[in-house]
Formats: sequence, C-alpha cells, structure tokens
Amino acid sequence: MANKFYVTTPIYYVNDKPHLGSAYTTLAADVLARYHRHLGEDVWFLTGTAEHGDKIAGSAAKAGQEVQAFVDEMSAKFSVAWDSLNIEPDDFIRTTEPRHVAAVIKFFNKLKASGQVYKGIYEGLYCTPHEAFLKETDLVDGVCPDHKIAPERVAENNWFFKLSDYAEPLRQLIESNELVIAPAGRRNEVLAFLSRGLEDISISRPRAKFAIPLPWDETQKIYVWMDELFNYCSAIGYGVDDEKFRHYWPADLHLMGKDIIKFHCVIWPALLLAIGERPPKQVFAHGFFTVNGQKMSKTLGNVIDPVELAADYGVDAVRFFLLSEFAFGADGDISVERFKERYNSHLANGLGNVVSRVLTLVEKYRDQVSTPESDTLATATAEVWANYHAAMAELQFDAAIGEIWRLLSLADGYVEAHKPWELAKNNPAKLGTVLATLVEILRQVGWLLYPIMPATA
Ligand code: MSP
Repeated sequence: MANKFYVTTPIYYVNDKPHLGSAYTTLAADVLARYHRHLGEDVWFLTGTAEHGDKIAGSAAKAGQEVQAFVDEMSAKFSVAWDSLNIEPDDFIRTTEPRHVAAVIKFFNKLKASGQVYKGIYEGLYCTPHEAFLKETDLVDGVCPDHKIAPERVAENNWFFKLSDYAEPLRQLIESNELVIAPAGRRNEVLAFLSRGLEDISISRPRAKFAIPLPWDETQKIYVWMDELFNYCSAIGYGVDDEKFRHYWPADLHLMGKDIIKFHCVIWPALLLAIGERPPKQVFAHGFFTVNGQKMSKTLGNVIDPVELAADYGVDAVRFFLLSEFAFGADGDISVERFKERYNSHLANGLGNVVSRVLTLVEKYRDQVSTPESDTLATATAEVWANYHAAMAELQFDAAIGEIWRLLSLADGYVEAHKPWELAKNNPAKLGTVLATLVEILRQVGWLLYPIMPATA
C-alpha cells in the first residue's frame, strides 16, 4: 500500500484577511502535498480557519456584523486566497463547523475521563489579542511586546490540565525523535523549555463568550487554543469515522511559523498522550519575514499582498519567489524589487530562455529528433535528483529549486558543447540524439518543478 502523508497548516484566525505569513505556510504545505502525491503517496493536506474567541467576536462587532455571518465571510476569504495561489488542500476545517464542535466535545470528555483535569483558581495576566495568559517576564515596560497593550489581571475559576506531569515523557519523545522538531534550533528551544519543568495549564474560561461550551460545567467555555489544536484530529473523523482517523493519524507533519511551536510541541503532544493517541511525527517551524529590513505593517505601508502580487506577475512566479529567496526555517528579508530581479534573472532568463532555446531547435529540426543519450544523461542528472529529494525531505525548498536550476544550466551547457546548428549540417544522427537528450532534460525539469510551479511545469 502507498505510504500516507498527512500534512497540516495552522488554522488561521479570521479577524484579518490572509497575508504573506499565512500564505507562506500554506504554500509550503501545498508544495509538499504535491511532491508526495507526485511520488504516488496517499496524501491528505489540511488547512482551515480558527473562528472562536472574543477577539473575533470583537472584530465582528466592530464590523457591525453578527458573529457567524462575519466568520463565514472571513473564512471564505482564506479559501479564495488559497485558490488564487493554486493551493489545493484536500480539506478545509472551520472550528465553527458542527463536525469540529462534536469532535472537540468527545475529546474533552475523554480528557476528563483520563483523570488529567481538575478544577482550580487561576490568577494571571491575560492578553486578549493573544488569547493567552502572559508571565511578568514576558512583558516589556509593562505591556505585551506583540500587542503593545497592558494585559488584564484576572482571577477566575478554571479547569486545569496536568501538563506538569508531561515534561519527562515529552523529553523522551523528542530525544528519541518519535516527535521530530525541526529545524534543530527549534528542537533545542523546546528541550530547554522542558528542562525548566512545566506548569499545569488552564483549559477553560468562565468569561469567554464565543467558544465551545465545556461539556461538564456550564459556567465554562473551552479555551480556544485547545479547541483549535484538536482540528488536526476532528478533520479526519475523530470519533465519527474511525477508519479514516486511524488511517491518517498520527499526522506526518504539522507546519507553522515559529511563534506557535510551544503549543504544538508541548501542549498538543501532552494532550494527545493523555487521551491515548500518538503525537504527530514531525513539527516544522519556519521563520518570519521582514520587508526591506523592516517588520511588515500597515502603518509602515510596506505590506506585500501575495494575492495582488500573483495577479500582477503570475501565481507561479510568486510561489517560486517565496520559496527560493531564503531557507525555509530561517527568518528572511524580501522586497518587491528583489522579486522583480529574481523574476528576470531566474524565470525570464534562466528557465524561460533554456526552454525556448530547446523548443526552437526542436521545432526547427523536429524530423531528426531520435532517442536520448541515456548514459551521459543518467550520470549527469543522478546527483540532481538525489539532492532534490534530500532537500525536499528536509523542507529545504531553496536548495531543491537550486538543483532544478543546475539541471537547466546543464541543458544550456549541453547546447553550447554540441552546437546543434552545426550538427544539422554535418552530423544529423548526432543532432537527433542531442535534441532528444535536451527534450528529456526538460521533461525532468518539468517533473521537478511541478510541486513549486504547477502550471508552468
Ligand atoms: N489560530 C492559531 C493557530 C492554531 S493552530 C492549531 C494562530 N493563528 S494565526 O492566524 O495567528 O496564524 C499563525 C500562523 O500564521 C503562524 O504560525 C504562521 O504559520 C503564519 N503567520 C502569521 N504571521 C506570520 C508572519 N508575519 N510571518 C510568517 N508567518 C506568520 O496562531
């Protein structure tokens, strides 16, 4: 039976429209899904939207809309954006869907039955835009460094999950690579965090308005992050379609930005262990963008909208640029100027030139095209293929792209070395082989390019 490959993105908050950050994660997932499908694997690619929380209810109120209507409209913007970037998920989960809500309730009942939850009082600093409690040490000059506002001090009844019992089991999972965390720097960060010990976490909120009710205590709602994490299971039929769930779980890869790895590498696997499920096989966190050295922000007016860029330059050009400009996993800087430069140097000149050069020759001498020079070709391309697969396995898209361009310059060099226009005069048999070899190289370029630039390929 074919290998299965279950890949996910975070589910995005619907209080804002999709932007470059969410597009980046979702694009990477699409590239991997296409690559694994292309290898004949049984792929399931999930994305979606996170729609609960008072922040979202607040955005709806601000927009003068009823919450459900607001989240319907905003969630649709994500589907449309992914469509316009030629991103094709197999499923799109929304946390307000009945299928998700029902699965979360089953999950919470199971968690309660595990004996890992208890009632207590929580006192702390709550940052509403974060939908999270912060520690004193998280604050900078008394305010949340991300949202620039002072958190609220609250004391409330909460239900807690005994996360503190899981530091050691989690450490073992990570050190044995049963749960792979990549890149290595993120893995070290999580291990360092675990070595300081874990505190129990609160999993319910008495004051939340727009959230799933806690099944056993009507004064409480489920903490949105707990509801959101469970999307990875609810979407593949947890508690409803056991066959599908058993087939795809555990997830092969959770992709995300580096901002949310603690949720995914600590809380999520611990919750799964508590209900007797396997943790995901791998969590990979990518970096963040700056634009011309500055954080992307509406106030600075330097926001790059991937959908607009795609409308102007073509979808594949944007896909290529986002994944080739810097290593996936690192932080990186981008700019529209560099996008244009790369467009010219790599797409118009690199790819475009080689392809049109070969096709012009083939058209001119089409009756002569025979069979490729297989030996030369095999040795020359073997390394490209090996490096490409290795790069894809490590999610090093820039390196994988580099290998495709190596193949293109190989084709270019081959044309220069054999001068088909001269062979046409003195060696038609050789011309046939040379042209067929070039066509075969382009076919391989097409294969390798497909996950990244599907339409072009
Ligand atoms: N709803 C939670 C995720 C729950 S997953 C069970 C959430 N949503 S979010 O809308 O804030 O999206 C977070 C993700 O969007 C990041 O992890 C990352 O994948 C992507 N990005 C959002 N902003 C980003 C940048 N500025 N740069 C790169 N990626 C970022 O957190």
